[in-house]
Amino acid sequence: MTTPPRTLEPASNFGVIGLAVMGQNLVLNLSDHGFRVAVFNRTAARTDAFAAQHADRSITGFRDLDLFVAAIEQPRRILLMIKAGQPVDDQITDLLPHLAPGDVVIDGGNSLFTDTARRTVELADAGVLFVGAGISGGEEGARYGPSIMPGGDVGAWPIVEDALTAIAATVDGEPCCGWIGPGGSGHYVKMIHNGIEYGDMQIIAEAYDIMGRGLSMSAPEMQPWFERWNDGRLDSYLIEITADILGHTEDDGTPTVDVIVDATGQKGTGKWTVAASMNQSTPVSLIAESVYARIVSALLDERQEAASALGDDIEPLTDSVDQVMADLHDALYAAKIVSYAQGFMLLRSASEEYGWDLDLSMIAGLWRAGCIIRSRFLTEITAAYRKNPSLTNLLLDDYFTHQITQAMPGLRRTVARAARAGIPVPAYSAALSFFDAFRSRRLPANLTQAQRDYFGAHTYERTDAPRGEWFHTNWI
Ligand code: 6PG
Repeated sequence: MTTPPRTLEPASNFGVIGLAVMGQNLVLNLSDHGFRVAVFNRTAARTDAFAAQHADRSITGFRDLDLFVAAIEQPRRILLMIKAGQPVDDQITDLLPHLAPGDVVIDGGNSLFTDTARRTVELADAGVLFVGAGISGGEEGARYGPSIMPGGDVGAWPIVEDALTAIAATVDGEPCCGWIGPGGSGHYVKMIHNGIEYGDMQIIAEAYDIMGRGLSMSAPEMQPWFERWNDGRLDSYLIEITADILGHTEDDGTPTVDVIVDATGQKGTGKWTVAASMNQSTPVSLIAESVYARIVSALLDERQEAASALGDDIEPLTDSVDQVMADLHDALYAAKIVSYAQGFMLLRSASEEYGWDLDLSMIAGLWRAGCIIRSRFLTEITAAYRKNPSLTNLLLDDYFTHQITQAMPGLRRTVARAARAGIPVPAYSAALSFFDAFRSRRLPANLTQAQRDYFGAHTYERTDAPRGEWFHTNWI
């Protein structure tokens, strides 16, 4: 490791703070694209080891934050790859005294979008341009091309665009990185990406449950089905890795997936998505059920007790394997369409609520590769929003109207079959219920309004009077 004296010309044109695996891989990705990277990590030993391991590259490690900053050309570009929350504020506090006006700080973690909005204002006050960039793609994406969703201080974009687009994944030569908008919009879009990721994972888990408990398939027996599905409309990274996972065995031949405890963890972005949907009065019911499914799974001890008390038998499925599997394919596809329709409803409402002017076709476009939810399906969503940028709902795009109409009978039969058998399908059920509610000209909300008026004089609108005129009945 070399620590050049401050009198030398800055040797680096990019800085990265935080050398956990995502940070390390992004540094190597930047280095592959010709950037000279200064690196700093709270634990200096990790910096030393990383710099030594890559001594053949233009990567320079620093033990002192002031020397790290001094080694970067101005306007500086410094990417934070550290744990979201207080650590980001602490790092910014440490960093600020060393920065010059016009420098750019990029937070590449999964930060809460309201924190990013606050930091953008706070740093602007200090003359520093702040960017909250969602980065998706896991370890491999970081190394060879993630999807990047930067937002914040727009003055930063010309300064960071070359680096961020250089390291991003590409589709037909287009980088999966584009300026999202002001304030916390970049992290908001990443949050929705993660919410959709939760939904995609849950609808796959429900298929796995029906195949396993409903059809008594072993994991290796399921694998070819996922491989086949990955060749068609369901083609996606998450279906692909599911096939890989199902085929993986322990040394004794036991499928590895069978020895994993059935309690899902979560870091918070799914819950944030649902909280945002509540605040914006926009339904993302499939994502919400996916978050709850994780929460229910984590009630491991209570579930064991309930299984003993209430019984955990299921009714065997009576339909043929071919019929169940054909319906399951369509259930997955229909639920996926509903989930993305809901996710994009939330993006649209956030765009209006926060005045972000989000470009939904661009957002769908930069999820086509690099990120965890990448799929063939996102190419079709990109096309739908390119064709009609003011599309109110994905379900109303001609292509998706046709697709969901075709797939809906399979979803309906799958939900009914699972209900009869006693296999939980919260995400499929949410998709079906939303679809049926959304297409209902009349819902039973008139009765709810009457009840509210009865017990609380909350008033109601009438079908025979203009909207906005409020009536009260003396019910008793
Ligand atoms: C990504 C992932 C990444 C991370 C999730 C996991 O886009 O690369 O979404 O951000 O793996 O945060 O989230 P949970 O731990 O909440 O499942």
